[in-house]
Amino acid sequence: ENNILETLPLKGKKVLITAGPTHEAIDPVRFIGNHSSGKMGFEIAKASANLGAEVVLITGPTHQKVSHNLIHVIPVVSANDMYDAVHEHFKMVDIAILSAAVADYKPKEVASQKIKKKASTLTLELEKTKDILASLGAIKTNQYLVGFALETNNELENAKDKLKRKNLNLIVLNSLNDIGAGFKSDTNKVTFIDDEDTVTKFQLKSKAAVANDLLNKILEQINA
Ligand code: CTP
Ligand code: CA
Repeated sequence: ENNILETLPLKGKKVLITAGPTHEAIDPVRFIGNHSSGKMGFEIAKASANLGAEVVLITGPTHQKVSHNLIHVIPVVSANDMYDAVHEHFKMVDIAILSAAVADYKPKEVASQKIKKKASTLTLELEKTKDILASLGAIKTNQYLVGFALETNNELENAKDKLKRKNLNLIVLNSLNDIGAGFKSDTNKVTFIDDEDTVTKFQLKSKAAVANDLLNKILEQINA
């Protein structure tokens, strides 16, 4: 008898995905965040599960919802929380796709009480967060590691540099220069760059379609 599941190309594979923004606390009522909607990561999670993968979706605060028996959602808030959750799962996965818009800096000190309005200017001291993607590139064994790059200038050069520096198998360059591409929209215009320097440019399309292109590329690479 033919079991349909046996034809699913990611059956038996574990995929870790990060999605959404992170929120870095300033005080009990304020944070530093960004406009990431989480859509891209959630679409990648759904596309992976539809191909039979077991998915761990580690997401910052978003309005996205997903309900699928193969998708385990782990909500986190800060870059530091996301780092811990990712490292808890990374050793068990075959593929890791880091699409979250992680804060690069966080307040050095978090005020324990609400900061009151006083002087006419206020300076917050920020410190770097840990680079989650780079930390995975540094420890990866057999995992296929995918990063995203958000660039506004020198796009290809910067993305290639990130691929090398973070020891990735593939980087997805997100073009913010195009109308309808990026953070809040339902569509995206991307370019894939793999570790053999093969560059594939795509037209503007839905984030669901981008997710399918990405998984096709990953399948091609891991089955090569
Ligand atoms: N990333 C991460 N942890 C961080 C910062 C970024 O895991 N603290 C990941 C993102 O999820 C993305 C990739 O790194 O997959 C690239 O993010 P991007 O913001 O484009 O690059 P950065 O390395 O942060 O450099 P910059 O923002 O200066 O361009
Ligand atoms: Ca960044």
